Amino acid sequence: MKTIQFLPDKVKIEVDEGENLLAAAAKAGVYLNAVCGGDGVCGKCKVKIASGSVESDQARLKNEDYAAGIRLACQSTVKGDLVVQIPEATGKDGKALKRKPVIARTISARSLEKLVGLWELNPPVEKRFLELDPPTMEDNVPDLSRLMRAIHQRCHDCINPTYDHPELLRDLPFTLREANWRVTVTLLKRRRAEEADRIVAVEPGDTSGQLYGLAMDIGTTTVCGMLIDLNSGVTLAEATAYNGQIAYGEDVISRIVYSQRPGGLQTLQEKLVKTINTIIETLCRTVVISPSDISYIMAAGNTVMSHLLLGLDPKFIREAPYVPTCSNFPMIQAAELGIYAHPSVRLFLYPAVASYVGGDIVAGVHACRIYKSPELTLFIDIGTNGEIVVGNQEWLVCAACSAGPAFEGGGIRHGMRANSGAIENFQIHPETLEPMIITIDRIKPSGICGSGLIAIVAELLIAGVIDRQGKFNRKISHPRLREGEDGYEYVLAWAKDALLGEDIVISEVDLDNLIRAKAAMYAGYLTLLESVGMSFADLDRVILAGNFGSYIDLERAITIGLLPDIARECFYYLGNGSLWGCRISIIDNRRSQERVMVSSLITNLELAENVSFMDRYMAALFLPHTDISLFPTVSEKLLTT
Ligand code: FES
Repeated sequence: MKTIQFLPDKVKIEVDEGENLLAAAAKAGVYLNAVCGGDGVCGKCKVKIASGSVESDQARLKNEDYAAGIRLACQSTVKGDLVVQIPEATGKDGKALKRKPVIARTISARSLEKLVGLWELNPPVEKRFLELDPPTMEDNVPDLSRLMRAIHQRCHDCINPTYDHPELLRDLPFTLREANWRVTVTLLKRRRAEEADRIVAVEPGDTSGQLYGLAMDIGTTTVCGMLIDLNSGVTLAEATAYNGQIAYGEDVISRIVYSQRPGGLQTLQEKLVKTINTIIETLCRTVVISPSDISYIMAAGNTVMSHLLLGLDPKFIREAPYVPTCSNFPMIQAAELGIYAHPSVRLFLYPAVASYVGGDIVAGVHACRIYKSPELTLFIDIGTNGEIVVGNQEWLVCAACSAGPAFEGGGIRHGMRANSGAIENFQIHPETLEPMIITIDRIKPSGICGSGLIAIVAELLIAGVIDRQGKFNRKISHPRLREGEDGYEYVLAWAKDALLGEDIVISEVDLDNLIRAKAAMYAGYLTLLESVGMSFADLDRVILAGNFGSYIDLERAITIGLLPDIARECFYYLGNGSLWGCRISIIDNRRSQERVMVSSLITNLELAENVSFMDRYMAALFLPHTDISLFPTVSEKLLTT
């Protein structure tokens, strides 16, 4: 880690080497005049490097400025410890920022090892190389018996193996002879003591050094795959692709609606399989193996995605009382679904708990072992559908609440997904009210993603530009504050600084949508906790899961009331819990066997018609909440600004 000190306010922050200097300033809470999102064209984010070194693009500066140590923060990456002087003009129009010096630190992911624990290298599949005795007139037992005999003789821990697919028998005599009786068998290990190991493949020669597994998170928006070497446990490659079903609806409800059209279910299944195949092809190309070299697939998705992958009609998931076809999904041969895989390869899907608490959540809970910990844990996956689990080693309850699409940029006039050009970080100068915007990939801004939205609302609130109801302060006269087509709005980027040549704004309608989304989440946590007679004060840990969760700025999420105002040390970022669960299950058979048990431990609470939930939701429709005493640190911030 490298330490940066920003002068004159002596704000310090630790960042990774290679961090962008503008992004580091934003994380430290240091305002720089940056209006082009970090594209390097507005030229306003100039800083002076007082000591230390950065790697920077000289072409955008005058020679004399460069020689004097001036750099564009957005075009500079950190190479070592730094002292950075913010010129007054960069702090906006000659006015110095009147902030008390702070020691800033990023609230980074707490140790993942601590969260997910250790796992053994003990995958659910293994390969054994066997040299069989060729048949003779004295020993002319059938080929399958000969293979079984060799397995018995050489693999003492493999008891009475079975086989269960006819292709294996059809090819066996030819494989054995062509390989001169030297073959590798792939064995699927038994899950319970009373079961038998299964032979799933017989390959010519010694291929035991090539044993690969695929972990897969099947999300409504994106599908992520991870290729793992099961001989070493090492992740070889990762790939992500948009779920090809997106063209048929953004969320699970619209996918269910589409599935009810003639041919709709089949179309959705085919699109998902095509996405999975794209990921498999990408991973295999990266590592230079064939899809048929993958011996095991473990996947997790929400209940609707699991249904659609298996071709199960999700119709009744949407209708009260919200019943899925099943929650424990059958093991299936991946190739039967059209997935590029060896005909023998099994695909396992994490079990679901309920219609709106799916295998992805079970995988996350499984990965971070809440069910084995005495610590009371709140597990949160924030998205269009917010999923929440509370509990410990003695009990687990869960609920889903419909937060709406605001956190993914939906329902927001200039909202967008977290792609290139999305405003992901924001600060406002407390006196001039000019913005500092940072975009993904540091290009001109084209919209606002979820993390940017949270930052914008939190900063506007602290600066007094909006009030606790999410309404703009009409008494402020400023060129960026104006009456727009959706009511009052603040201009984040003028058309000349924006990628698409139009003003990017945040309006009161946008604010209202965000407040509703965060209120649904907060009401969900509170309802679940109170359903078991507990409160936030009883929590030992809060685990943030999901891709979006990894990017949430904790302080700002608390400022707007999305997360409870409790000790920051309680918070952990898990990242993609669904992928974590699949990864662990694919490497460690012992932990894999617990996954069905985990889903059976979780009790679902329906919030859809829960009166307490509605009361708490109404109470949370404020920033951060109608009862400010629930947010003491936010109250303090609002009083001191
Ligand atoms: Fe750096 Fe515009 S030049 S933000």
